[in-house]
Amino acid sequence: MRQPLVAGNWKMNGSTASVRELLAGVNAGLAGVAKCEVAVCPPYLYIPQVQAELSGTAAAWGGQNLSNQLSGAFTGEIAASMLLDFGCTYVIVGHSERRTLYGEDDALVAAKFAVARAAGLKPILCVGETLSEREQGVTEAVIARQLDAVIAVEGVAALAAGVIAYEPVWAIGTGKTATPEQAQEVHAFIRGRIAALDVGVAEGLRILYGGSMKPDNAVQLMAKPDIDGGLIGGAALVAKDFLGICQAAHASL
Ligand code: PGA
Repeated sequence: MRQPLVAGNWKMNGSTASVRELLAGVNAGLAGVAKCEVAVCPPYLYIPQVQAELSGTAAAWGGQNLSNQLSGAFTGEIAASMLLDFGCTYVIVGHSERRTLYGEDDALVAAKFAVARAAGLKPILCVGETLSEREQGVTEAVIARQLDAVIAVEGVAALAAGVIAYEPVWAIGTGKTATPEQAQEVHAFIRGRIAALDVGVAEGLRILYGGSMKPDNAVQLMAKPDIDGGLIGGAALVAKDFLGICQAAHASL
């Protein structure tokens, strides 16, 4: 049985005041969603505040990105060791915004996955197709390419140290969620591709859905056999909505 994970990706949002308020709301609801693992990924600057406010609770936290380098002359970068220094458990790698807006290619994403894993962080590897790729019928080819890039560098067994998030780019921040059937189809494809290499890794791996997940569509998404939680953007900024999604995951077990 895979424990569901719901991770909030706050993206570039927040202030010390809004983080305090959001975490107070999330903290108040954690006991009611105990079967779901809960994590938040704030902007780097707020990680110490999140650490202070979530230490001793059941919730984990992580970064939204990290450097592929360990330390040194890399202006503006954040190392895996720094995320660990502030108690991070997770780090998102290969989010579609990093891939499309900041030019991160499959090789860089694979390098980041490797650095995160070697440091003892749990990478949340994002994969997903754009609308035009879906319309061209190449969704599976795109996902396979993104996955295989990491497997080629790390080997399939390394995937067990992390989590995969399927995030169709056309569903991110658009209000257009994949239907539970569309999402399940891709999740099953991902698990099947990994199972062809290692059944044990595939069975144990959590595959999250991301893209306009809200409390009202989360129940049906989480009910699908290969959907093991969510990576949540917009709805993670509102405690009630985030907890509503955690509740759906909690109840799906
Ligand atoms: P969204 O973002 O929930 O706002 O669509 C998800 C993500 O980008 O991780």
